[in-house]
This record gives sequence, C-alpha cells and structure tokens, in this order.
Amino acid sequence: VSQQTFNVKNILKKMESEEYKLLSEIGKIADNLELDVYIVGGFVRDLILGVENFDFDIVVEGNGIKFARELAEELEGEVIEEHQEFGTACVATRLGLKLDVASCRVEYYQSPGALPEVEASDLKQDLFRRDFTLNALAIKLNSERFGKLIDFFGGKEDLEAGLIRILHNFSFIDDPTRIFRALRFVNRYDFELGQITRELMEHAIDQKVVEGVSLGRLSNELELILKEETAAEILSDLEEFDLLKFFHPQLSWTAKQSKLASEIPWAERWVEELEIEEELAVWQLYLLLLVNPLSVAEAKSLLTELKISNDIIAKVEFIKESDKEKLELLREFNVQPSEVYNSLKSLSLEELVYLVIVSENTEVKDWIEFYLLELRRIELQVTGKDIIELGYEPGPCFEKALQAVKTKKLNGELETYEAERNYLEKYLICLKEEDN
Ligand code: CTP
Repeated sequence: VSQQTFNVKNILKKMESEEYKLLSEIGKIADNLELDVYIVGGFVRDLILGVENFDFDIVVEGNGIKFARELAEELEGEVIEEHQEFGTACVATRLGLKLDVASCRVEYYQSPGALPEVEASDLKQDLFRRDFTLNALAIKLNSERFGKLIDFFGGKEDLEAGLIRILHNFSFIDDPTRIFRALRFVNRYDFELGQITRELMEHAIDQKVVEGVSLGRLSNELELILKEETAAEILSDLEEFDLLKFFHPQLSWTAKQSKLASEIPWAERWVEELEIEEELAVWQLYLLLLVNPLSVAEAKSLLTELKISNDIIAKVEFIKESDKEKLELLREFNVQPSEVYNSLKSLSLEELVYLVIVSENTEVKDWIEFYLLELRRIELQVTGKDIIELGYEPGPCFEKALQAVKTKKLNGELETYEAERNYLEKYLICLKEEDN
C-alpha cells in the first residue's frame, strides 16, 4: 500500500491547548537535534475516532533515550524510567503528563508468545511490527510537517470502515495476545475483524498458540478485558472463539452469566447515586461472575496462578462460600437489621454489589442499600467509660455489653444517649445475676 498524504493538524488543534502545545514543542526540540519525531499508536487511532486518549507514545528516528533526556530538560520535566535494552524511556512533564519515548525498532520473535528481541530500524519497519493497521498510524511532529498523518498500511481507511486487520500473516503466531487485543478493539469500537484476519485468528486458536503465552501475560490480557466497558461482550466472544479454556478448562461464559453481567451497568449507576465514599471496582464484578462456574478451590488456584492480588482472591473465595447463605438471610421475612449488619459487615463494596446482582431481588437490594447508607454508619454513644461509671471493672463483659447495646440500637430500639445508657445498665445487671 502506498503511503497516503493527509494532515490532521486541524484535528490536533481541537485538543486541550496544553497538550497541543506539548506536541508542537516536542517537534521543535527534535528540529533542533535534526531528528524526525512522531506520535504513534493508540493516540493517533483515537484522535481520528474522536476518542480522548492521553497515551503519548513518541517514536524518534534516532536514540530514544538520549531524546527522552533532552525532552526532560527542555520541558522541565524528568526521566522517570529508562530501559537501555529496548531503547525506551518515560518522561514526566511539568504538568504531570507522561511521554513514552522509543527509538524506531523492529522486533524478532524467537518463539511464539515469547517477548521479542529488539533492533534499531526506520519508522516504516517500526510500524509494521505492530498489531493492527489502525494502531500502525503515526503523526509527524517536526514543525515543517507538523500534523502529517503517516499511513503506510491503510489504517485510516480501516478506521473509517470499522475494520480490525493485521499487518502480516504471522501476526497472531508471533504474538498470540493480539487475539485478545483484537476482540477488545472489536467490542470497544464496535468494529469487525477483517475476513483474512478472522481466518488467521481462528487458525492460530486451532493451533493452540495461546498455550505458549506466559501466565503473566495472560493475566494482563484478562485484566484489560475485564476493565473494558464492553467486558461482557468480549467474554461472550472469548466463549465463542473457545478461548476461555486457555485460562482454565472449566471456565465458561454462559447465557446466564451474560444475563447477570448485563445488570452491571445498572448496578454502577445505582452505586453512583448512593454517593458513598468508596469507588466500585467494576472489573471485579465481571471477575466474580466469570469464575462462577468453578469450585472455590479451582477459582482460588486459577486466580493465584494468574497472580490476581490476594485481596481479590479472598473476595472470590468468600463470596463463593457464603453468598447462598447471605442471600437466604436477606430474603427471610422476619430478619432483623442487626442480623443483616452482622452478616454484611465484613464484605467489600464489590461483594455487596455482587450479591444484589445475583439475587435478582429488590428486597436484597433494599437491605444492602439500607446497610450501606444507614446501618454501617450507626455508632454507639455509650462507651467503656459509661460502664466504669456504672461501677464495673474493665473485663470481657465490656465487649459483650456494648455489643448488646449495638444490636438493640441497630434494630432501632434505642434513640438517645439516655436510652443507650439505661439499656446498658439493665444488661450489665442481668449479666451479673447470670454470673452469680
Ligand atoms: N502493540 C502490539 N502488539 C501487542 C501490544 C501492543 O503491536 N501485543 C502495539 C500496538 O501498536 C499499540 C502499541 O503497541 O498501539 C501500544 O500498546 P498499548 O499501549 O498496549 O495499546 P493501545 O493501542 O494504546 O491500546 P489501549 O487503548 O487499550 O491502551
């Protein structure tokens, strides 16, 4: 494909002026060093699609690390990372923006799924090593050609047609994680796979190339998928392309899981309207639903292998062991608020929201809402000091008595400090009599 000439300066101008200024400054710094410099990848793709993206991937035809140091100095920022072996560096600007700077390079794959070996090259080769045509676009930043779109492989046309196309036949074999990336982009932008791309992807899946991918990389892909707004659709695609088995043979994404997942956007809005302090980690809800078909032990060992953090594993484990029991309690006709409080108090926001989703029941939702907004905020006014004032020596009865007052208060039976104190006194007398 011959390179198309197209200028995106006017689209760039629509960006926030700070970012626009930054890009043109990068161009000028490169002018002074007589280097050609480009912004590439996701930023360019999203600029053309009109989607906000602050991933500044800068590629320079020259020494990337030297250029990064120069940028840091001129922009009064600092180099926060350097990788000599890849010729890449990361610069943080004064305004808190991050620039990933790299030298143009080609990559050689020693074996499918392995990380590539790197060698210096020109821009065209650098773009050709990338995953899809829509990610192989660059914009020149040097002053004279500022805004010139570099499109060697028809990426702009594919963007306009809504197509995900690989650049060469070995793309999925070289890097099988691109299979997952393709499905992410398909769903994120509501695009389609090009016909040949689809065939080669299916072929790569049949060849089980994903088996060669390390668990670390698989885990990374899974997390990226679960963090997409269209996670549920991507999971359906993973099921359709029979990809879930590479994570665990028993993993599936059934119509039932898909239906429950369709409640997640609603649950997100519900939590937002509650205006509570915590932020909901939505991706963990998808994870909880995804591991639903596995036993507790299977889920735990899969997530441990995938190096999912321990507190998330604990959530999965806990919810799988206890959700039925908790849901039964919340559905009971005569359940007391104190029982609800005790049953929910150790759960994170994600676990609570998960219960609402799987219960498909408004009483459960109402209880959890009541718990989040009211019950968990109830504090006693009486303290150990009141017990001492009532003439008792500190001991195990303190905890027990305060617990009893809390239960009564949670159940709405103690409105004032006096009421709490009276009940506390009566309770302590009973305790004493029992002891005698
Ligand atoms: N890339 C690739 N193969 C991969 C991963 C990345 O070719 N397995 C290339 C793509 O060209 C991509 C660039 O590296 O544009 C940067 O990768 P990344 O930041 O992961 O991707 P984005 O395209 O920016 O995707 P996202 O919007 O999801 O961040």
